[in-house]
Amino acid sequence: MKVIVTGGAGYIGSHTVVELVNAGYDVVLMDDLSNSSIDMLDKIGDVIGKKICFIKVDLSDSDACAKAFKTHVDAKAVIHFAAFKSVPESISKPNEYYRNNIGSLLNVTTSMEKYDMPYLVFSSSCTVYGDTKELPVKESTPMLPPNSPYGHTKQLGEHILKNLSSTLASKIKSIALRYFNPVGAHPSGMIGELPNGVPGNLMPFITQTAAGFRQQLSVFGDDYNTPDGTAVRDYIHVVDLASAHVKALDYMQSEKSKEKYQVFNVGTGNGSSVLEVIQSFERTSGEKLNYKIAPRREGDIAMIYADAKYTMETINWSAKYNLDDMTGSAWAWEKKLRGL
Ligand code: UD1
Repeated sequence: MKVIVTGGAGYIGSHTVVELVNAGYDVVLMDDLSNSSIDMLDKIGDVIGKKICFIKVDLSDSDACAKAFKTHVDAKAVIHFAAFKSVPESISKPNEYYRNNIGSLLNVTTSMEKYDMPYLVFSSSCTVYGDTKELPVKESTPMLPPNSPYGHTKQLGEHILKNLSSTLASKIKSIALRYFNPVGAHPSGMIGELPNGVPGNLMPFITQTAAGFRQQLSVFGDDYNTPDGTAVRDYIHVVDLASAHVKALDYMQSEKSKEKYQVFNVGTGNGSSVLEVIQSFERTSGEKLNYKIAPRREGDIAMIYADAKYTMETINWSAKYNLDDMTGSAWAWEKKLRGL
C-alpha cells in the first residue's frame, strides 16, 4: 500500500519512513524542507537501502498541495507530520502557526477527499491536555486550555478530524497520535534530531553541550512539586514512536477498527525528571555534563506522563526502549554527526 508521509524529512517523520518501508509500505515523502535538510533523504535511503520518492512542496499552499497529491492518487493513506513545532516560536508568531499547521491539515484532507484516500494518521501531542492534574493522562482526560498557539493548533487539528469523521459524506478514517516527548535516534546512527540553531528541547541541548557546541545546559526550575523538584515528562524513543504509526495504519485497515476517528497516547507511561535524564545521559555516555539550575521556563508544566494502556491493547503496540537507550542513542547520533 502506498502511503504519503508529509514532513517525512523531519525528526519523527524520517524514523517513521524507515519503519514503514521495513514493514513493506510504499512511501512517498512530501516536505518543504523548512525545518529539515535535503541530506536527510540520502540518509534515509542509506538506512533502507533504496532511494525514496520525494516531492518538495509547501502543503499550506492549497494549489501546490493538490498538485502534489494528484501525482500519487493511488496512495491509500497519509501520515501528516508537516507542521511547525516550537512552543516559544508559536507564542511570538501565532499567525504563522495557525496558517501553516491548520492550513496544511485542511489542504491535506481536501486532497484526500478528492482522491478517495481513506486513511489518515495525524501528529498530535500531549500538549493537548494542557496543565492537567489528572495523572497519568488517559485519552479520556479532558483537554484544558492550551499553553501556547502550538498546543492550540494540535487541539484544533483533532477537533477538525473529529468533526470530519462525523460527517456522513466524509470517507476519511483518522487516528490522532498524542506524542509525549520523543527523543533518541535510530540505532544505525544515520538519522536523528537535528534542530536548526539553538535547540529548544532538552535532549539535543544535552548532546550539543556534551559535544562542546553549547557551553552549559540550564535546568529550567528545581522548585516544582515533583520528587526532585525538576519537571517530569514521559520520554519516548523516536523509533518506538515511529513504530506506533505503522501499528496505527495496520490497525485502521483491520476488522477490529470500527470508529472513523480515534485518539491514542504514545508514551511509555514512565515519568522522568530533567535530573534523571541528565543522570541517564552521564551514565550511558560516560561524559560529565555541564549544567546549572536556572529559573522556570515560561509555559512549562510541572509534570505529565501517559497512561498508554489503551494504545497497547488496541493497536498492539508497546515501547521497547528505556531511558538509557534513548540517551545512549541520542549521544551516538550526535557523535557521529560531529565526527567525534
Ligand atoms: C513541549 C510539549 C510537547 C511538544 C514539544 C515541542 C508539553 C507538555 N509538551 O515539550 O508536546 O511536542 O514541546 O517542542 O507541552 N528543559 C530544560 N532545559 C532546556 C530544555 C528543556 O531544563 O534547555 C526542560 C523543560 O523545562 C522540560 C523538559 O526539559 O521540563 C523537556 O523540555 P522540552 O524537550 O523542551 O519538551 P517539552 O517542553 O516538555
